[in-house]
Order: sequence, then structure tokens, then C-alpha cells
Amino acid sequence: MNKLLSVLGQALIILIQEIVSGLFGFLFRVKKSPKNVSGQLALVTGGARGLGKAIAIRLAQEGCNLAICDVNIEEAQKTSEEIRSKFKIECIAFKADVSDTQQVATLYNEIGEKMGTVDILVNNAGILAPLGVLEGEDSDITRVLNINLTSHFWMVRKFLPSMIEQKRGQILGICSAAGKSSIPFAASYCASKFGVDGFYRALFDDMCLYEYNDFIKITCAFPGFINTRNDLENLLDETNEYIPRVQPDYAAEKIVEAMLLEKQEILFPFSYRISTIMEYLVPLKTRIFMKREACKQGSGLLEKRINVTRK
Ligand SMILES: NC(=O)c1ccc[n+]([C@@H]2O[C@H](COP(=O)([O-])OP(=O)(O)OC[C@H]3O[C@@H](n4cnc5c(N)ncnc54)[C@H](O)[C@@H]3O)[C@@H](O)[C@H]2O)c1
Repeated sequence: MNKLLSVLGQALIILIQEIVSGLFGFLFRVKKSPKNVSGQLALVTGGARGLGKAIAIRLAQEGCNLAICDVNIEEAQKTSEEIRSKFKIECIAFKADVSDTQQVATLYNEIGEKMGTVDILVNNAGILAPLGVLEGEDSDITRVLNINLTSHFWMVRKFLPSMIEQKRGQILGICSAAGKSSIPFAASYCASKFGVDGFYRALFDDMCLYEYNDFIKITCAFPGFINTRNDLENLLDETNEYIPRVQPDYAAEKIVEAMLLEKQEILFPFSYRISTIMEYLVPLKTRIFMKREACKQGSGLLEKRINVTRK
């Protein structure tokens, strides 16, 4: 009992200190400066195109050297050449499927030999899969879970130990707003992204418990829809579906800024924060009504979604 009271007392003191420093920061508009990562080595998975490419470019602007990893080596090489021609940094493309432990081990060795120890790991590779629980093949489900979720374990298990050894590292996980608030007809995607949220929360806790949190920083990003694919974008336009969308470079800016400020998580655009809060606050019948209405509005999109998935 005495021990419990002492722990509660200490927690209260820390809480008061946090509130006071938060109020002080708010009143005097004290802003934390973004971290300087110039000269550090960043590895971006799925960096050949889309959000991964935009994050790689944003990190190159910060002066990071880059390892771009992708299953699509041709596109990854093109992206690397483009980055090298624009920025005075080292940038090399590596072929690897991040859902395969053997390929992740080979990737780790190759980067180590050619570029050194990775300081910033960006786990971005992922696939979009708007498939309901009863749709698709069994293999579609395992593929989504392996690429979108299990790969984060393989990458972190391989790259974190050398970060701990050198007492410097940052891990950025790309999740999705669908990892905070479920979307209809995307069970495996939502399950994978809710899993990614859990993974980074647990990883953060582990870093704190081992007292690595002063030098190993964890950030998880929850973006809403990003215009990374023309086919999906055209489909959303065609079906008049109202989904707030942002451009990849805007998303990369927000995400890298959060990482450089060492924030634990970032969820954007703002409207997705509201839907996340509603998921927990709105009573069941109202929530069901709103989900059904959203599905009706998007019926054109839903009819065509499987064609888009399979491309
Ligand atoms: N586009 C969106 O609306 C959106 C929204 C929220 C979250 N996200 C997440 O952002 C990340 C990137 O999405 P995107 O829209 O840029 O996708 P994208 O399809 O444009 O690009 C993904 C890249 O990952 C690569 N990739 C796929 N599987 C891989 C594997 N097994 N190993 C290595 N590389 C692999 C692809 O070749 C491709 O270059 C994903 O994790 C996605 O879930 C995207």
C-alpha cells in the first residue's frame, strides 16, 4: 500500500511538472526546434514511388543520405538517380521484399557494407486492399498482413540493435487513419493498420522501460487519403466520393516535421481526427446510421473497388 502511494505521489509530481511546462510553452509560445539530421543515413522502405518517395525527397532536403528499398528495383533506381541529381547526398537503391525475413537480413548486410549504420528507419512499404472479410482469396489476406504489419517486426528486429549500440536512432512507422477508425470493406487493411498502431505503442513502451527513449525516438504517422495513385484518384473523382485528400509532398512534410520534432504520433488531415474521436464517443445506433450513409454515398466506389485493388 505504501509503495503504491509513493508511486502515485511521484506520478502526480511528474504530471504537475508536465502541466506547468505545457502551460508555460503555450503562454510564451515556446516552440521546440526540429532535430538536425544532416549527414545521417535514412532507409525508406517502399521508397520508389508515392509517399515513400516524397518522404525520401524531404529527408534529402534535410541533408540525409538515403537507402531506398523497394520490390520494384527499376523504379527505385530511377528515384535514386532523380534524388542524386537534385541533392548533394549519397542515395542507393536496394531490392528487397520487406515481408520476407531472409531478404530483410540481406538488405541489412548490403546497406551495412555499402553505406554504414542506418540512423533513421522509415517503415513505409504497404499495399492498399479494399477487400471485405468474405472477399478475395485467403492468400490476399495473408499478403496484406505480411506486407503491412509483419514486415515492421522484421525491419525493426534487424535494424534496431545497431541503433541501440550506437545510441542514436529514429524509427518512423507509416500507419493510416484507417488504423485509428475503421473503414468499411477493408477488413485486412484495417486489421493490419490497427496492428501497426499497437506495434509502435508497444515499441515506444519497450524503449522507455529499457531506458533507451533518450536516444531512440519512435514516431507513428496516421495519414488520411493521399493522392499517390492515379487510378484511385480518378475513381474517386468519377464517383463523386467525398474523401478529403492531400498530395504526397504535403503528407511527407507533415510526417517528417513530426518525426524531427520527436512526436510520438501524427494524425491528419484534421477531419480524420474528428472521425476518430466520433468512433469512440458517438453512441452505437448513430454510428451505424452514419456508417451506412457513408457506404451509400460511396456505392459507386465500392462497386469498382475490386478492380482497383487487383491492378
Ligand atoms: N495513399 C494513401 O491514401 C495512404 C493513406 C494512408 C496510409 N498510406 C500508407 O502509406 C504507405 C505508402 O502508400 P502509397 O500510397 O505511397 O503506396 P504506393 O503503392 O504508391 O507505393 C508503395 C511502394 O511500396 C512498394 N512495396 C510494396 N510492397 C512492398 C514490399 N513487400 N517490400 C518492399 N516494397 C514494397 C511498392 O513497390 C511501391 O513502390 C503504405 O503503408 C500505405 O498503407 C497510404
